[in-house]
Amino acid sequence: MLEQKIAQIKKEALAEIAAVESLGVVGELRVKYLGRKSEFTGILKSLKDMSEDERKTIGQLANLIKTEIETAFVEKEKELKEKSFDFAAEKIDVTMPAKKLQRGHLHPLSRIQYEIEDIFTSMGFEIADGPEVETEFYNFDALNIPKDHPARDMQDTFWIKNNEQLTADNKQQEKIVMRTQTSDVQIRFMEKHTPPFRIIAPGRVFRRESTDTTHDHTFHQFEALMVGEDITVGNLKFVAEQFFSKFFKADVEIRLRPSYFPFTEPSFEFDINCLVCGGKGCSSCKWAGWLELGGAGIVNQNVFEAVGYPRNKYQGFAWGFGLERLAMMKYKIDDVRLFHSGDLRFVKQF
Ligand code: DAH
Repeated sequence: MLEQKIAQIKKEALAEIAAVESLGVVGELRVKYLGRKSEFTGILKSLKDMSEDERKTIGQLANLIKTEIETAFVEKEKELKEKSFDFAAEKIDVTMPAKKLQRGHLHPLSRIQYEIEDIFTSMGFEIADGPEVETEFYNFDALNIPKDHPARDMQDTFWIKNNEQLTADNKQQEKIVMRTQTSDVQIRFMEKHTPPFRIIAPGRVFRRESTDTTHDHTFHQFEALMVGEDITVGNLKFVAEQFFSKFFKADVEIRLRPSYFPFTEPSFEFDINCLVCGGKGCSSCKWAGWLELGGAGIVNQNVFEAVGYPRNKYQGFAWGFGLERLAMMKYKIDDVRLFHSGDLRFVKQF
């Protein structure tokens, strides 16, 4: 009797499941046939009141049928899901052009710096580095610029307020500066190395200056220092010429004018011929035909002495050139302030 009832439920359920057309109705049917309040669940609940024999046969049968109905539901769901899948809407046209990715790139100054580093490493130079916040000793004293020397005024300096640090031997408080030149790296490097060596040191420097198209308060220099027992101005000129012809991929003329720096003797102002006008005079070189790149010279023996080298044992040349000046000439940029303007329209051109 109960067996017949179960067979009846199965027949009705399978017929209804077979006829169903929507996923929503499948859910309703599941509640109707297998839900907590369904006839079928009622039968399963009543098993506990049956005799042992009955419980066994009815129980087995009911579970079998339940699995059968459940399987029918699962298959129906699968079938309906596949039917409702909209192939046209899901179609992907693999021939469509892809979305363009926005990629970042190096700032023009970084590019120039890496280019310079490549050229110098190919000539056997090492790259040296130093801190941008520097002590008075490395920025001035060790470079033969004593505290009361008028040469201190050659560079307008940002002093860091109320921030003094003990000197290396812990004997004295020392003032802190935003380094005004990369020449500090000369001292830091020589303290740890013995000649012969050749280095360049590119880096950021700071001056308390008003700005215009060729001056900024923050800019980059790259220092060069080559020390050995018989280095001369000839080496300075040769290395510089090699570098510039590689950097500009053109023959570059060099001009040395007598000048003064405390850390070199003799000292020069270092110019190259203007590559924009070929020396005739234009707005890039301010109608001079020459571009002033920075200072250079033969290292003063006082500097060697400050780092503990014996006097007159070594000779070296050094220079400190402006990186922005080179970039401006290479890319024909007419305002140095653009480099730090944060203007993407400018940066994206490179
Ligand atoms: N440090 C100097 C400046 O910023 C430039 C300079 C001159 C660097 C002569 C040198 C040098 O290494 O030998 O004005």
